[in-house]
Amino acid sequence: MLAQIQSGAVVGLDAVPVTVEVDIASLGLPSFTIVGLPDKAVEESRERVRAAIKNSGAEFPAKRITVNLAPADLPKVGPAYDLPIALGILYASGQLGIIPKDAVFVGELSLDGSVRHTNGVLPLAMLVTKMHGEKNLFVPISDAREAAIIKEIHVYGVPSLLALFHHLSATKLIARETHVSFTKVVGSQAFESDMADIQGQEHAKRALEIAAAGGHNLFMQGPPGAGKTMLARTLPSILPSLTEDEALEVTKIYSVTGNLPPGESVMKFRPFRSPHHTTSRIGLIGGGTHPSPGEISLAHRGVLFLDEFPEFPRNVLEALRQPMEDGVVSISRAVGSVRYPAKFMLIAAANPCPCGNSGSETRRCTCLPGMVLRYQKRVSGPIIDRIDLHVHVPTVATEKLTDTSTKNESSAHIRIRVQKARDRQTKRLHRFALRANAEMPTRVVRECCPLSPECEQFLRLAVTKFRLTARGYYRVTKVARTIADLSGDTVISVPHIAEALQYRPIEET
Ligand SMILES: Nc1ncnc2c1ncn2[C@@H]1O[C@H](COP(=O)(O)OP(=O)(O)OP(=O)(O)O)[C@@H](O)[C@H]1O
Ligand SMILES: [Mg+2]
Repeated sequence: MLAQIQSGAVVGLDAVPVTVEVDIASLGLPSFTIVGLPDKAVEESRERVRAAIKNSGAEFPAKRITVNLAPADLPKVGPAYDLPIALGILYASGQLGIIPKDAVFVGELSLDGSVRHTNGVLPLAMLVTKMHGEKNLFVPISDAREAAIIKEIHVYGVPSLLALFHHLSATKLIARETHVSFTKVVGSQAFESDMADIQGQEHAKRALEIAAAGGHNLFMQGPPGAGKTMLARTLPSILPSLTEDEALEVTKIYSVTGNLPPGESVMKFRPFRSPHHTTSRIGLIGGGTHPSPGEISLAHRGVLFLDEFPEFPRNVLEALRQPMEDGVVSISRAVGSVRYPAKFMLIAAANPCPCGNSGSETRRCTCLPGMVLRYQKRVSGPIIDRIDLHVHVPTVATEKLTDTSTKNESSAHIRIRVQKARDRQTKRLHRFALRANAEMPTRVVRECCPLSPECEQFLRLAVTKFRLTARGYYRVTKVARTIADLSGDTVISVPHIAEALQYRPIEET
């Protein structure tokens, strides 16, 4: 007898339908074959399915079993087909009476028949919404809440093969998972540090505020112990909240890579990724034989913090150039090509030289003359040009560190300003399907950021003085737009441009 069960495969960040066909022939020697480009994990499914069926109290047929995963030319990866294969065998051997045509099944089986966590449940749930008729999705019980964020479908959390058997034979039904509403799950986040804890560094704090509001890239340079790492790690406390659409985009990436925090159904907050400088190019950008997203995609809609920036190998940093410009990364391999979103804010921190004291007024730099330049040149010009905000983070004077008379502004306060500025941008850029000023391409900058003749003239002067590139010109305009948004101004004026220009790299003056 032949069984056909609907399942799905994740390709890139999207799921495509896969039909699991199981045929049990009465003639021939007992065997169990899986065809349809299975990888090692799918091949090993045979052993898991055999044990799970036996340990669930059913009978594993000693016949010639052929499993086909269609379409045959799509490589099948991972253990998610265990559950549909087991169901197919139960149906084709006559032990299970019915398999609904309008349902999609996915899940890895344990040897004892329980159903284990499977990556990529959210894209599968999105796939089910595109199906015709009733939309039922059976997933491992641990992933049910993740799928239930999609309201158009019926999600069932399956604890074990036996429970699913009872559900399909209508002897004991599995309860339908209730829809998880995004607005209900989002609470407030606890942060490890607050802007109020950082003494001095007003210039850097202001730059962080602008970066957070407009999604701009930021480069902090300064001596050791000045607080660069601390400032960057405090950034999440002032970031604007994720919108529901953004949260779904981010959750999809975390679902596919199996990085969703335990017990969470959705990514509620903007991600903050801080990979070490020994991270490989594939680790940062994404890729591999079976391509998977890298750190830049895990930082999508959030922050990619690269501490000790010049310590990253040059070829790794150069690979950031295209995704920083386009907000997506395309990876082509023999098995196919995938695109991962990568709209991240880059926050980079570095010392000015190997000893860290170059340019310091209080400490002597012990580096040889050529060393300072060589150290700074480790980061290429094109990367520097892509960073909108450059700030010098000097050592804080001891009196300031211990000064308790002045009260610093708290993250909660700054966050309110940032959120308002972001809301203004989202509203203005809605018709271009953009959300933050940093995302604006040149065409949109021209349309959304008109400059008065006075501003135009001021900026033209600055282009000559600062030797700005064309990219630099538009980036200054974008930063000026964010500064205007922070102060609630509808038009850009000269002081906004003047402040934006302060953040250009110092070498260009
Ligand atoms: N402005 C500041 N206000 C309060 N504490 C500070 C400040 N700057 C530094 N510190 C303290 O010093 C510690 C070290 O700072 P941090 O690691 O951020 O320095 P850094 O600039 O990243 O140094 P390095 O260049 O060596 O990486 C912080 O954990 C914090 O306790
Ligand atoms: Mg540091």
